[in-house]
Amino acid sequence: MEAIGRNHSFETALADLVDNSIDAGATHVLIRFVRGRGRLCSLYVVDNGRGIAPDRIDEAMTVGGRRAYGEADLGWFGLGLKAASFSQARELTVLSRAAGAVAVGRRWRLGEAKTHFLCDIVPESFAAQELDQDRGVPDSGSGTIVRWDEVGGFPATRDKDQVERFISRKVTAAGDHLGLVFHRLIESGRVSITFDVHEAGTAGPTSPIAVEPINPFGYLRPGATGFPKDLRATVDGQTLTFRCHIWPPRSTARQFKLNGRPAEYQGMYFYRRDRLLQPGGWEGVHAPHAKLQLARVEVEIDGDVEALLRMNPEKSRVQVRPEFGQACEAARAEDGTGFSDYFHLAEQVYQAGNKRRSTRKPMVPPGRGFTPGLRSTIEAEIESLRVDPVDLRWREFDDDQFFDIDRDERTIWLNKRYRKMLLGDRHGGLNDLPLIKTMIYLLMEDVFQGEYLGSRDKDNIELWKSLLTTAVRAERR
Ligand SMILES: Nc1ncnc2c1ncn2[C@@H]1O[C@H](COP(=O)(O)OP(=O)(O)O)[C@@H](O)[C@H]1O
Ligand SMILES: [Mg+2]
Repeated sequence: MEAIGRNHSFETALADLVDNSIDAGATHVLIRFVRGRGRLCSLYVVDNGRGIAPDRIDEAMTVGGRRAYGEADLGWFGLGLKAASFSQARELTVLSRAAGAVAVGRRWRLGEAKTHFLCDIVPESFAAQELDQDRGVPDSGSGTIVRWDEVGGFPATRDKDQVERFISRKVTAAGDHLGLVFHRLIESGRVSITFDVHEAGTAGPTSPIAVEPINPFGYLRPGATGFPKDLRATVDGQTLTFRCHIWPPRSTARQFKLNGRPAEYQGMYFYRRDRLLQPGGWEGVHAPHAKLQLARVEVEIDGDVEALLRMNPEKSRVQVRPEFGQACEAARAEDGTGFSDYFHLAEQVYQAGNKRRSTRKPMVPPGRGFTPGLRSTIEAEIESLRVDPVDLRWREFDDDQFFDIDRDERTIWLNKRYRKMLLGDRHGGLNDLPLIKTMIYLLMEDVFQGEYLGSRDKDNIELWKSLLTTAVRAERR
């Protein structure tokens, strides 16, 4: 019991519990941090799945208690629940109700399991009371609660700020992991996963945070034409498909960066039953290299490719057998493309992207008034000059000029009297009207580059003022 699940992190352990909820047909999974008098004391994973029938609960609590698995089930080892839980907590309680059945509950305590290998039976009334609580998970007439207590990684402090910071860090990290691992299932609407925080003993409403899907292949346009491309290999009569993608260069999308540097996320993405097992890694087919950071390959390992691949019990890694490398070597697309062609092309696209960047003229960085997404795109596309950024802001004007330049303040001022008209029904804010602001920024940026304004710059400003003011007046009419 002490040893199982050693390779789990908080995130992978949660993912294993979510696997069980998905196998049980749950449409909603709530992950709840529970605070007792300020201190973080337990974690609940609540679902509205099929639940566990009274005559199945003991088997479910058994380490290695495998059942018969369906075609699409994520479960496999009969281990997940226990391994995931004891990797994080010293106490595991499972409360469940199958449709039309009485509520059941069991509790494992790590300390006791050493002396007698038995778990406690939770009274039905307690199980029922817990299951009947409204936590915002849509009622399906059945469901399961997995509860962890004495969680090793939880902070001991009661300090409100520290606890809040801890929770927010965990929610972000775990949310990113679950969003990636289950992105297909979330995108297709099969399941929604939320986090919330609850103060024990209160009934107050909480504001849940939904896990957003993160599709590691979610680019707008591929980095090369003809991609993604399917490379196929047949081994022992089984076909293995490698869907080879090339990301557009220098993307700042969250799906590309994932949790760190994109170079770490090149390689194979293995999916089993629409669940991502492994985000990247070349598995010996190629050495990881910065130049290959645009190359990601989608591999489905459903069906009978198990002769080539195995997953680890934590379901966070795929272990390949020697035949796998041979399959990659032999894999071809219909047009004859093989892995070495693919690597070559991915490298070229990466290098061409870098070259384009270095021949572009550096620009004054955008400051306040721009949405963060826009700022990071500009940063990714163009080198920034080492000068103070330019802000784009609204203020009252005495006249009806559309904009004005203030080089000392490093600000482009927009005339407030047009703001409402341009916004239409939308709400204004610091970062409103990104399209207009970006266009003005592109037009004016070089006016902020030098020490002095040349006469040509001055004249240009007058010209643009005159044209744009006429245009915005016409638009108002
Ligand atoms: N959230 C849940 N809803 C319904 N049944 C569950 C849930 N979690 C676990 N179970 C039951 O407990 C069993 C053991 O789970 P687990 O240890 O993760 O092994 P596996 O998923 O590999 O079978 C599952 O097969 C399932 O029958
Ligand atoms: Mg499982």
